[in-house]
Amino acid sequence: MIIISCSHGLHIAKKIANKLKKTYSKLEVRQFPDSETYLKFNVNVKNKTVVLVQSFYGNVNDCVIETLFAAETAADLGAKKIILVAPYFPYLRQDKRFKPGECISLRTIAKNIDEDFDEVYIMDPHLHREKTLKHIFKIKSHKLTANPLIVNYIKKIKNALIIGPDVESYKWAEKVADKIGCECAILEKHRSSAYDVKVKLNKKVDLKDRNILIVDDMISTGNTIIETVKLLKKMGGRKFTAICVHGIFVNNALEKLRRNRINVVACNTIPGKVAKIDVSTLIADSLKDKI
Ligand code: R5P
Repeated sequence: MIIISCSHGLHIAKKIANKLKKTYSKLEVRQFPDSETYLKFNVNVKNKTVVLVQSFYGNVNDCVIETLFAAETAADLGAKKIILVAPYFPYLRQDKRFKPGECISLRTIAKNIDEDFDEVYIMDPHLHREKTLKHIFKIKSHKLTANPLIVNYIKKIKNALIIGPDVESYKWAEKVADKIGCECAILEKHRSSAYDVKVKLNKKVDLKDRNILIVDDMISTGNTIIETVKLLKKMGGRKFTAICVHGIFVNNALEKLRRNRINVVACNTIPGKVAKIDVSTLIADSLKDKI
């Protein structure tokens, strides 16, 4: 097995390789002046199980093209098996035609991944309308979760109250709360656009002196968290930490959250200042039976 980092896997691929005691190599990737992608393997992949590590953040579409180029090149160079490890996998929220004429982007992405890979590993996929990865991919798929690591992080916090900012967040918030045995409340969220959200709490909870932990799978614009904190402040909440698996943080979201005095913690599925929870061991462990 060889662990190969694509351009957006550099923060974690080497750690995974070290933990598995396997060869690590970095894909050579650059852009031509007209923004086309150049890519080269600097290791012999013939007859090897190639694990490509790519996290789809930032310029997501470039990441997609690069990943497909890499997989097809590995096959062309004689790789025996090609596995995708995606600490963060994109387009999972584009799984439905919300308005007539819209593209169901996830279908195109999944079709190409099916074609080019033998297996896929995804950390905390945003499964919402599609219940499992088996509904999305034809190839063997593995869903990994950072919940045990989030549990370990929160366990140390006294007088904790866990809040899930919307119904889907129960998969993280409620499950983590159940493991720790602490109180949890799930909010109701109404989203009118990618930027506008409204939240409400349908349950009475005592927020006084509580360490309030808002747990969700991802933070993108940060507006879900900010609206949640606004509501909870009105109800008497004072100390807030937002914990997510995937810290996407678009448009200065992190600064916005900090200005609202919200402490933020994320997993390192996406690198960044607050990516403090390391998921590399969890990923390495899940790959052990492929060695
Ligand atoms: C949505 O269902 C997700 O779990 C997140 O709550 C959402 O994507 C966060 O987005 P934003 O930070 O832009 O409000």
